[in-house]
Amino acid sequence: VLAEKGSYRHFMEKEIHEQPEVVARTLGAYVDQVENTIRARDGLDFSKASRLLIVGCGTAAYAGEVAEYWFERIARLPTEVDIASEFRYRDPAFLEGDVALFISQSGETADTLEAMRLCKAAGLITVALVNTAHSTMAREADIVAPTLAGPEIGVASTKAFSCQLAALACLAVRAGIERGHLDTASVTDHVAQLMAIPGTMSEALRADGQIDQLARDLSRSEIVLYLGRDQYFPMALEGALKLKEISYIHAEGYAAGELKHGPIALVEEGVSVIVLAPSDSLFAKTRSSIEQVRARGAHVLALTDEAGAEALEGLVQASILLPAARGAANLMSAAVAVQLIAYHVAVHKGTDVDQPRNLAKSVTVE
Ligand code: G6P
Repeated sequence: VLAEKGSYRHFMEKEIHEQPEVVARTLGAYVDQVENTIRARDGLDFSKASRLLIVGCGTAAYAGEVAEYWFERIARLPTEVDIASEFRYRDPAFLEGDVALFISQSGETADTLEAMRLCKAAGLITVALVNTAHSTMAREADIVAPTLAGPEIGVASTKAFSCQLAALACLAVRAGIERGHLDTASVTDHVAQLMAIPGTMSEALRADGQIDQLARDLSRSEIVLYLGRDQYFPMALEGALKLKEISYIHAEGYAAGELKHGPIALVEEGVSVIVLAPSDSLFAKTRSSIEQVRARGAHVLALTDEAGAEALEGLVQASILLPAARGAANLMSAAVAVQLIAYHVAVHKGTDVDQPRNLAKSVTVE
């Protein structure tokens, strides 16, 4: 397939903007809208799983880290996430009933593939969550769970990531059903939340212009810290990864609660801190992290919703307004925002957005 940029300046920009569409397509592969449920997947049975192991590299591993919150919360399924290059060499201990899920856009990443082979050899059920249907991982896994992002050209993953999240959110609900933790009413509610994702992401894309403006200042930062709690913690890691990958700014993501255990030492006048601050049950805690970095002179940009922006008025330098949605939809609107931030900062800096230095789209050798 020859992908075209159309009217976009870069593939990454196009891929960010096509997310509502490809995420909707991916949801369509999992959600049964007639029965209002998530379809079962042949051979995949979460009811007897003792544990879910999730393995991937880079952005795919961060999608796994987000999903850990979902599988544990929604399905009460103990979940462990590993980076493939660590997992495959640390002689991991398995449990009877472990299910191993491998996340990869390309389906060819050497470390992830070898981690999968190791699990297969140990007799585990292997699931490949891949975007490339004819990839090696898709061929070798016991079960394939697809993402339907279409070809992703930008080296920094965007739409493949959000499709991975959409598929994982569906699988977590499926696991919740199979493990008997969701009654019909809560399944219906979850399905409604999932189906709200594409619309929420479209709304989030409206922040594009505002983010472009804010990115001008950010592009002059030497250090950017991303903070988040709960499912927004791995999103903070992903936001920082995206930014460093294409703008070469030193960016790090931290769990907001870890601030006092080290990262706050970096904060001084002029350091930029981007805080994922949805007005949820943890908002007060996030707000207090914002106060701590503001007291040390940080320049704070909050990714929040209307209620959050009101509560942070006067405390932060700027708020990016995202729609107030629930669960995965809310997280995925934050994904759009961190991608747009990285994209616009890189454009302001004039880097090669689609082909950043030293990076490859898929790492098929160690
Ligand atoms: C490379 C890419 C990343 C990607 C990672 C894993 O580092 O630059 O964007 O997240 O590989 O790739 P995969 O194809 O396994 O998802």
